[in-house]
Amino acid sequence: MTNEQKALITATVPVLKENGVLLTKHFYNRMFTHNPELKNMFNMGNQQSGRQQTALAMAVLAYAENIANPSVLIPVVDRIGQKHVSLDIRPEHYIIVGKHLIASIQEVLGDAATPEIVAAWTVAYNQLAGLMAGHETNLYEQQTHKTNGWTGWRPFKVGKKTPESAEITSFYLYPADGGKVAPHQPGQFISIRLFLPQLNLKQARQYSVSSTPGHEYYRISVKREKGANLDTNGMISNQLHDFINENDVVDLTAPAGNFTLAPDIDAPVTLISGGVGITPLLSMLNSLVENDYTHPITWLHGCRDQSVHAFRNQLNDIVKTKDNVKQHVFYNQVTDENREAGVLEGYLDISKVPSLNLQPNAHYFICGPSAFIQKQYHDLVGAGVNKQHIYFEEFGPQLLSLN
Ligand SMILES: Cc1cc2nc3c(=O)[nH]c(=O)nc-3n(C[C@H](O)[C@H](O)[C@H](O)COP(=O)(O)OP(=O)(O)OC[C@H]3O[C@@H](n4cnc5c(N)ncnc54)[C@H](O)[C@@H]3O)c2cc1C
Ligand code: HEM
Repeated sequence: MTNEQKALITATVPVLKENGVLLTKHFYNRMFTHNPELKNMFNMGNQQSGRQQTALAMAVLAYAENIANPSVLIPVVDRIGQKHVSLDIRPEHYIIVGKHLIASIQEVLGDAATPEIVAAWTVAYNQLAGLMAGHETNLYEQQTHKTNGWTGWRPFKVGKKTPESAEITSFYLYPADGGKVAPHQPGQFISIRLFLPQLNLKQARQYSVSSTPGHEYYRISVKREKGANLDTNGMISNQLHDFINENDVVDLTAPAGNFTLAPDIDAPVTLISGGVGITPLLSMLNSLVENDYTHPITWLHGCRDQSVHAFRNQLNDIVKTKDNVKQHVFYNQVTDENREAGVLEGYLDISKVPSLNLQPNAHYFICGPSAFIQKQYHDLVGAGVNKQHIYFEEFGPQLLSLN
């Protein structure tokens, strides 16, 4: 890419900032009209809510802003790459996306899109696509080199379906080919793909593996997402709860994601979850406990009330048997019985936890709704915790950039 082209890209940033979401909306409409088969790949729920458009617009802007120094993008490229790999996105898909993205720039900007601007963006897109597809090829290679590793969609059979709370149900998923599962790192997620008759499409969603590595299965624990009415109920979560039963076969990709407990971690660990955000942290906790981790572990969880408190008995058992594990639970509504059991009232708030010891060398993992993550992150930083030791996972397109 020439310096002139870099300057043209940099000059486009303010225009993109103004029109970024409009441009990507136009792009998706164009791509789905010309390549409707890609609707099976994208989350058509996110398309309706506009969250995916925002995520892609932000990625394009981040790239344009850093065109002179694309190396700062590496953490972003890895995060997006983990999601892409989990959805079986391959280099050939970048060609289709590039074609529609460049055509959309021309169509949205009209006369302002000079041939030079279009040429500069074509080079820039190809550079970014090369960087991303190259990184993703490495991630696919890592997956195939793992014991029992694989890439792409693989059929899994539901071995057991079991409720964990009023709204969370676990599915134990075994390879339908009789093979073994690749070990996941606690905190990682899989994608599951189902056919949705109401859309006449296949759709994929990510679910954190809530079990520990070393089993014959992956367990996922899914919250039924209720909308304001039947039409806005979450599509895949409700399909799983209502129609996917033991012995049914679903497609899964191999575990991916970088919200993980480092295998050589050697420090106190604090796990902070809100609602169904409990799932990746439960895998982390159980894995630490199974490995007789000796550092202090602090478990903080918040949810509406006892009826939606998943894995409650299991957590209480761990705390009873492991001296190094301390638990603090918050319910929005507490009963007298909850209060006697030590449950705190209100939203999870670290400042309200009696004798909470925030060690400076501890590692902090947060998972929950985006507002929850922001609050916990800011409270931890406010209490003196090093930002570098705080990790978080959003259960949707990652829109927060806190570190
Ligand atoms: C890395 C990662 C890990 C995850 N792990 C878990 C996990 O362990 N457990 C878990 O339960 N989930 C998890 N999720 C979330 C999961 O992937 C799905 O996003 C979730 O189950 C909702 O999917 P759905 O198809 O049911 O809802 P969708 O159909 O995708 O809808 C999304 C939301 O929008 C609402 N909605 C739909 N239509 C409208 C409309 N027109 N207007 C307004 N709102 C609307 C729905 O009610 C729903 O709440 C994870 C996500 C990620 C990215
Ligand atoms: C340079 C090109 C690309 C950029 C900048 C980009 C950017 C992004 C970003 C920022 C996300 C959200 C990540 C998150 O959830 O945290 C995302 C997700 C996703 N991307 Fe890409 N992407 C590119 C190429 C592609 C291609 C080629 C495909 C496939 C045709 C694709 C399909 C998806 C899908 C399916 C998701 C998940 C969200 C959803 O289901 O709607 N992307 N991408």
